[in-house]
Amino acid sequence: MATAGKVIRCRAAVAWAPGKPLSVEEVEVAPPKAGEVRIKLVTTGICQTDEHLLQGCFPNTEFPVIPGHEGAGIVESIGEGVTSVKPGDKVIPLCHPQCGECSFCRNPETNYCQRSHFSGPQNLLPDKTSRFTCKGKQINHFLWVSTFAEYSVVPEYAVAKIDAAAPLDKVCLFGCGFSTGYGAAINTAKVKAGSTCAIFGLGGVGLSVVMGCKAAGAARIIAVDINKDKFAKAKELGATDCINPRDFKKPIQEVITEMTGQGVDYSFEAIGHADTMITALASCNMNTGVCVMIGVTDSEISINPTLLLTGRTWKGTMFGGWKPRDSIPKLISSYLEKKFNSDLLITHTLPFAKVNEGFELLRAGKSIRSILLF
Ligand code: APR
Ligand code: ZN
Ligand code: ZN
Repeated sequence: MATAGKVIRCRAAVAWAPGKPLSVEEVEVAPPKAGEVRIKLVTTGICQTDEHLLQGCFPNTEFPVIPGHEGAGIVESIGEGVTSVKPGDKVIPLCHPQCGECSFCRNPETNYCQRSHFSGPQNLLPDKTSRFTCKGKQINHFLWVSTFAEYSVVPEYAVAKIDAAAPLDKVCLFGCGFSTGYGAAINTAKVKAGSTCAIFGLGGVGLSVVMGCKAAGAARIIAVDINKDKFAKAKELGATDCINPRDFKKPIQEVITEMTGQGVDYSFEAIGHADTMITALASCNMNTGVCVMIGVTDSEISINPTLLLTGRTWKGTMFGGWKPRDSIPKLISSYLEKKFNSDLLITHTLPFAKVNEGFELLRAGKSIRSILLF
C-alpha cells in the first residue's frame, strides 16, 4: 500500500487523564517495526474494561493513552519478518496474545502467554516504545491493541487472521466480550449438559456466558442483574430465570440456594466487584460447585475459607480460556456457519466520532454492546 513504511496521520480517541471524556484527535502512527503489524481498524466495540481504564483503575497503564481492545480491521502493512499475515488480510487484534513458543503457550491446559503485556509494560509495545504521538507527545498503547484509532500497530503474535467473509462490524466482539464470556462457560467451567448455572452481570460478557451455558446444554440458567432491563435479552439468549437482588430481602446466594435446592453447579461473576465475586462463589453448591471469576477489579477479597473447604472450586479466566490465535479464527468460522448468534449482543452502532456517547450508553445501562464505525 502507498502508506507502507510511512507515518500515517489519522483520527484516534485519546484519554488524556483519568475521569475525563475521550478526545478525538489527529494522531501520528509510526510504521510497524520488525515483528509488528499495522492494522487499519474498520470497527471497534466498547467494553467495560475500557471504562475501567478511563476511570484510572489500571495501575499499570499511564495516561495519555488510546483505549479500545475489541476491534476488527484489515492489515495495512507488516514489519520485517512477519509471515502469518499480509496486507489486505482481515484480522482481529488480540488483547490476549499467543506467542506459541513459551512454556505456557505449549501447555494445552492454559491460554496465558508468558510474553503477554500482563507480565510486562502494558502501556508500550514489547520493545518498550510507543508507535503513537499527538501534538508532539507520546501516547501510550492499551493492552497492545488500542483499537480506538483508525490505525494501530500490534505485535504479530497479538493478531489473528480471520475468514475473508467475516463481517468486521459484527466479529469485532470476538476480540473480547463474546469470546471471554462464551469461553468461560465452554472452556473454563466446562459446563455439562443438564447442569444448573448462575450468571452475575448481564452485560456483553455475562450474556455471552448465558449463550455458552445454553450451547453446553445447561438445563437451568439463572441470570442475575440489578438492571431488569437486561432480562428480556437474557431470556432471548437462553436464561430460564432472571432475578434482581434488589427484589429480595435475603442475600441472593440464599435465594439461589433455595431455588436450586443446594446451589448451582456453575456460577460466573461478570461484573467486576469484590462483593459479587464472593456472592457468586457462595451461590454454587458446597461440594462440587465451580465458580468462575471473569470481571476485572483491583480490590482485595476476603472470604471465609469454609466456602472452599467443603469442596467448591474457585477459578479465574482470561479471554475465556481460548488460545486466541488458534481459536478465534475457528470461533468466527462457527459464527459464519450460524452455530450461535453473537449479533444479538449488538444494541447500538455509532460513528467513531460519537465514542463518548457510546460510553454514556454503557454507564446508563442502556447498551449491551455499542459498535463504533470508523
Ligand atoms: N449485582 C448484579 N449485577 C450488577 C451489579 C450487582 N451488584 N452491579 C452491576 N451489575 C450489572 C450491570 O447492571 C450490568 O448489566 O453488571 C452488568 C455489567 O455489564 P457491563 O457493564 O456491560 O460489563 P461487560 O462489558 O459485560 O464486562 C463485565 O467483565 O471483562 C470484564 O472488565 C469487564 O469487569 C467487567 C466484566
Ligand atoms: Zn506464549
Ligand atoms: Zn473487554
